[in-house]
Amino acid sequence: MKDNKEQFDFAAWTKRLPPSEIRQLLKYKVKYNFGGGLPGALPIDTLGKILIEIGEENIQDNKDGNIRKALSLWNYGPTGGQEYVLRILAERMKRVDGIHLDDETGWQDVILTAGSQQALYAILDTIIDPGDVILTPSPAYLGFLAPAFKLGGEIVTIPTDLEGLIPEYLEQAIPMCEKKFGKKPSMIYVVPDSDNPKGTTIPFKRRKQLFDIAEQYDILLVEDQAYKEIQFKGEPIKPIKSLDKDNSRVAYLRTTSKEAAVLRMGYSVLPESLKNEVLKDKGYLDLCPPAILQKVMAIYYEKYIDKVLPDCLATYKKRSEAMLKGIDESFPAGEYTKPNGGFFVWYESEKQFDAKKFLLEKAIPSDICFVPGSAFYPIKGWTLDVDKNDLVESAAKTNTMRLGFSYNNAEDIYAGIKILGNMLYRELGID
Ligand SMILES: Cc1ncc(COP(=O)(O)O)c(C=O)c1O
Repeated sequence: MKDNKEQFDFAAWTKRLPPSEIRQLLKYKVKYNFGGGLPGALPIDTLGKILIEIGEENIQDNKDGNIRKALSLWNYGPTGGQEYVLRILAERMKRVDGIHLDDETGWQDVILTAGSQQALYAILDTIIDPGDVILTPSPAYLGFLAPAFKLGGEIVTIPTDLEGLIPEYLEQAIPMCEKKFGKKPSMIYVVPDSDNPKGTTIPFKRRKQLFDIAEQYDILLVEDQAYKEIQFKGEPIKPIKSLDKDNSRVAYLRTTSKEAAVLRMGYSVLPESLKNEVLKDKGYLDLCPPAILQKVMAIYYEKYIDKVLPDCLATYKKRSEAMLKGIDESFPAGEYTKPNGGFFVWYESEKQFDAKKFLLEKAIPSDICFVPGSAFYPIKGWTLDVDKNDLVESAAKTNTMRLGFSYNNAEDIYAGIKILGNMLYRELGID
């Protein structure tokens, strides 16, 4: 028999696309885990209570002969989710985020997906033909870049600063894309609140500029708000979606993963035509979301989220402060972000070094894990070179690191970051 890898005639993408670098790092069980963005402050007691409430009600329904209702908890349902939970989510997004949703019919604009990752994938899958152009920040979320590449998209990355994507550069790149690829971009992707990987937040003025550019050039704007509720410093900023009064420009993606638990449940507000195509795709991907998890979501968002999240946020704040203190005291010269929320700090050293090599050869054997920043640049793509005023082949910045503070406790974060700082000094050859 042939080597296992060659047994079948695998599709071409399997050779072009390596496995996710972050998933690969999950196998290292290190003491100081600054690698994957695992939530480390979850409302466990509340989640347990919700499960008990659901289980008891279900047993009672069965006893009472309410069989249809009892069965529905364990059954198939609508592909986009059930009306009762969509109504609760719609009401909350309208009230808290200022999203324009009709009181009566707005729930029909909301759909559930298997995590926001499935929403990202299905949106790309329904919009992108090979050769279509996608604009993203540089660096950008790996879970968006990889499927964009897999589906044959031409990825064009736009420079960012400490306030995220720079709108003037985005606008500058659009005619360049038209010239280079013979078509205007199909999509702009941003994570406005506490971006992954940089941890930066886009101020409202920039959000408005991004929205206006998307309107002016008639481009779909995908607003990934994975960290919307994980905000522990400063005033919350209204999402870009709040500017999209007739729900025609912005795909607004939310998830339970950080603000409730990793239930693999995402919720999105999509323009109607996009929603219909995404649902068609989802129908063939996984048929429908699990009914029991919809029940968990409904109870959590209706009764508990505002009571239990502040404690989790206080924990994340403390952890982020421990990380920043450690970096400030012990890291070699460079630039690092100071997040208002989310899970990550981004560090870029002044001196060049290969963070991936350093991770594998030095950090992991010393019980420390982080994600080398190079994971957040496209495998193959283009970037706006501001000095050359042109699109050039994109290249990863190897002297960068994504440091996650969500999982370890504050004391361990501080201790681990100090060790890492000392190791970096040695790696960079600085005394
Ligand atoms: C920016 C961003 N978007 C989307 C996701 C996907 O999250 P999920 O599929 O768990 O909702 C993540 C997960 O880390 C993320 O950081």
